[in-house]
Parts: sequence; C-alpha cells; structure tokens
Amino acid sequence: MTLAAAMTPPPKRSRSVALPVAPAPLKVISGGLQSAACAPPSHAIHVQDYMAFLGTLPDKSVDLIITDPPYSGMNRKLNFGGGRIVGKYASAGAAGGKWYADLPDDPDLYRVFFEECHRVLRKNRHIYVMFDNESLLTLGPVFREVFALKSIIVWDKGHMGLGENYRRQHEIILFAKTQKGTRRLTSKALADVIYEKRIYNAAYPTQKPVALFDRFVRASVSSGFTVCDPFAGSGSTSIAALQAGCSFVGADISPRAVAIANWRSKHFLKTCQDPLEGPGRLRGVAKAIRTSLTWLPGSEEPSVHGQ
Ligand SMILES: C[S@@+](CC[C@H](N)C(=O)[O-])C[C@H]1O[C@@H](n2cnc3c(N)ncnc32)[C@H](O)[C@@H]1O
Repeated sequence: MTLAAAMTPPPKRSRSVALPVAPAPLKVISGGLQSAACAPPSHAIHVQDYMAFLGTLPDKSVDLIITDPPYSGMNRKLNFGGGRIVGKYASAGAAGGKWYADLPDDPDLYRVFFEECHRVLRKNRHIYVMFDNESLLTLGPVFREVFALKSIIVWDKGHMGLGENYRRQHEIILFAKTQKGTRRLTSKALADVIYEKRIYNAAYPTQKPVALFDRFVRASVSSGFTVCDPFAGSGSTSIAALQAGCSFVGADISPRAVAIANWRSKHFLKTCQDPLEGPGRLRGVAKAIRTSLTWLPGSEEPSVHGQ
C-alpha cells in the first residue's frame, strides 16, 4: 500500500461545532452493517478535549449520547511489566504513541462531565456510558447522581483477556435516561447481557464493534435524531449512528483518531460500507493504520486496497 499517497495533515482544531442540520429520516435496517443504498445523514467529528467540545454544544441540542470514555479502571490496576506500564501503554497519550491518554477515575471530574452530558441532551433522552468493573465501582454512583440509571448492561466479548484471578471477558455499559425522562426503548425484548465478539487486530486501540453500538442506537432513536460521542476514537459510534439514518457529532483529543473517524464516516456515507469492519472492510487498511505511526487517512481512499 502506498501510504505516503494517503497522508494528509491532521485536521485543524475547531472552536465551535456546527450541529448537523436537517438529519435524514431514520431508515430502519434489520441488523448488521448496511449494504443497500442509504440516505445521507451528516457527521462532524472534531479534534477537541471532551469538555471543550461539549461546551460548544447548546443546551438540549443532541438526542442520544453513546460514549466509551478513556477511564483508567483496570489499566491502572493491572501490573503490566511487573508494576510498570510497558509496551504500547508506555507511550500513552504521547505524540505518535500507540495508546491514547486516559483520564483518572476521579468522581469530581466525571460529575462535571456527566452534568455537561445532561445539559446538552434534549429532554427525555437516553445515554450509554461504557466502564469496566473498577471504573463502575468508582464512578457508577456519580453517574446515578446525574442520570436516572435504568440498566447495567454486560457486554460479553467472547474471550477472556490477559491477567489473572477471574480474567475479564466483559465490559459494562450503563444505560440511563435524563432526569424525569419517560422515553421508552424501541423494544421490550432487549436483554441486559449482549454477546458480541470483540475486534481482533483493530485499526485503533479499544476500537469497539459497530454492532454493539448499533443495538443501542436502534433501541433509543427516532427519526432525525443526532447522536453524540465526546470520546469518538475510531468512529464506531459515528458509523452506528449514520447507518441508522441519524446524524453524528463527536470529538476526540487525538488528531489521529479524528482523522480515522472522519475518513471512516465519509467512506460510509459514500459507499454505505464500513471500511474497518464487516463485509465492506477494506483489506489491509486496519493493519496499515495500526502499524503506521504516521499514516492519517485523508479525504482520499488509500491508493491500494481490495474488497
Ligand atoms: C476507549 S477510547 C474510544 C474508542 C472508541 N469507542 C472506538 O470504538 O474506537 C477513548 C478515546 O478517548 C480519547 N480521549 C482521551 N482523552 C480525551 C480528552 N481529554 N478529550 C477527548 N477525547 C479524549 C482517546 O484519544 C480515545 O480515542
């Protein structure tokens, strides 16, 4: 693959966020990644700190938040390298590092974050926040102060991870409504344990399967909704929103993540295929992104790819 041809400078930081106008009507899709022609909703993903980004959003301006924060949780507990953080974690947050910066599991920090989420959500809306066990114990009570917690969902990833004791095979998703919200899920037949295989050899660290977020989007949106994720990473929430006919606004502090997420979303809107997952993935691209510290997908497709 000619990576140089696909290199573009990272996107500039934006000061304010233009909310998408006139989102396309919701297309009901039976499940999995969409492959038929789809309506063109919009996406806007910015290189910004999560609080700065949320600060640009007007009160009651988004309809659903699905987010996967960089909680420190178990990462801080696990003894990578006998107590030292080693390997790809060692470069966390550094320019060119292979791992993103995390946020400390500080209840005060997260209280302010959740309050901002509540402010930007329209009345009577839903939010989904991912945690691991450690973060849940520290931050769950704070989440419940701000939102009306309805379910603690377990995502079974199919295989246990590294470590000892009872090795982790799941992550937690808190599902809540805005205070006094009465909005129902679109189905009553939704269990609080979800099996969805994690992604191996993903383009981006902790890239989540679109199919996981797809369930949440479909359970919580109506026609014309805007989905928001202030920790957008590789844009899996954006793809889930777009394929349900919703618009998406999001941010990530990492220019690299935002370049991937915007390129991925743009590709999806053009082709109705996710270039990083599922039947429409572009062969070799996830590896190229994962293994190159310099390649940022630009507006152009990578020069060599196969279907
Ligand atoms: C767990 S990852 C999200 C992965 C994403 N759900 C996906 O499927 O690709 C958390 C993200 O938060 C971002 N992040 C870390 N600190 C941030 C901050 N202060 N503001 C915004 N984003 C931040 C990281 O760059 C990382 O991409």
